[in-house]
Amino acid sequence: MKNRKDEHIRYALKHRSEYNSFDEVELVHCSIPKYNLEEIELKTRFAGCEFTVPFFINAITGGSENARKINQKLARVANECGILFVTGSYSAALKNVQDDSFEIVKRENPDLKLATNIGIDKDYEAGIKAIEALNPLFLQVHVNLMQELIMVEGSRNFGEWENNLQKFVQNIKIPIVLKEVGFGMTEATVKKGIELGIKTFDISGRGGTSFAFIENMRRENGLHYLDNWGQTTISCLLNLKNYVDKVEVIASGGVRNPLDIVKSLVLGAKAVGISKVILELVVKYEVEKVIEIVENWKNECRMIMCALNANNIEELRNVKYILYGKTLEFFMQQKES
Ligand code: FNR
Repeated sequence: MKNRKDEHIRYALKHRSEYNSFDEVELVHCSIPKYNLEEIELKTRFAGCEFTVPFFINAITGGSENARKINQKLARVANECGILFVTGSYSAALKNVQDDSFEIVKRENPDLKLATNIGIDKDYEAGIKAIEALNPLFLQVHVNLMQELIMVEGSRNFGEWENNLQKFVQNIKIPIVLKEVGFGMTEATVKKGIELGIKTFDISGRGGTSFAFIENMRRENGLHYLDNWGQTTISCLLNLKNYVDKVEVIASGGVRNPLDIVKSLVLGAKAVGISKVILELVVKYEVEKVIEIVENWKNECRMIMCALNANNIEELRNVKYILYGKTLEFFMQQKES
């Protein structure tokens, strides 16, 4: 039988997004900065935790032999580099008591900064089981409507999602992050989340992994005209500009390199999640090489911040930027409406 998690990995690696909104943001640089490179600080804070680095490995996988190997590699990279690692949805482990593709990361890296993930379609008790098994720093609750709709075996009852989320908030004792999976999250969803007690939102927008594409590849008659469903990561960040001081906004979706990371921080993100690019790296290279690349990313973030005259994440918010193309059109239209 085909394993859904393995198919997700296979098709995620096959997908190429034609358009990435990060290319339509230009940061205005500074010619005479105040700070020396070594003074630049990368630390950030969200979901009640301090992090020394503002980027992390976002939810990817778990629940198959291949997923187990990938989780082992990702966790080693995160552990060695001192960055946060978020597992894929823990529901895969709940379906199979033999599965240790999630727990192994904790066993092999006891000091790992770890968080986990579960779907909004699940009962809050599934979240409690995930927390008992992994002792994570926080729990991501993911929303993935279009993925479910395209998935042949996907959920068809969405009326209970709001109620489920309310129960997560009432019964889970660690911070909860409401998270998209690459379709983007805008004001209406954030408002609803705030109403239900959510304080941290991972807006995971379009531009990188497309779960519409992935599920269309898994269908006999793929609805590929829906592959580009959703709002881009930059559009979501622009749309939520008035919220970044009220709630914690995390950026993810299509983040490729330290420049994309810094652009997200300039637009108000507290931290930046990366899935596809890091998955590609651990599939292609030995763990040691990936550790070297991620270590370099830290230095490159500092370099870019230095050239923007910002010595910490807060100062990045003062950096001016220029928008182009579709992103500018989105910005102008939402201003008018
Ligand atoms: C994901 N993503 C994901 N998200 C989630 O909340 N729970 C999950 O179990 C998964 N599983 C998963 C598997 C694979 C193979 C990929 C590539 C991604 C979505 C991920 O966390 C992120 O939101 C999107 O992938 C967008 O970011 P990138 O991939 O463009 O960096």
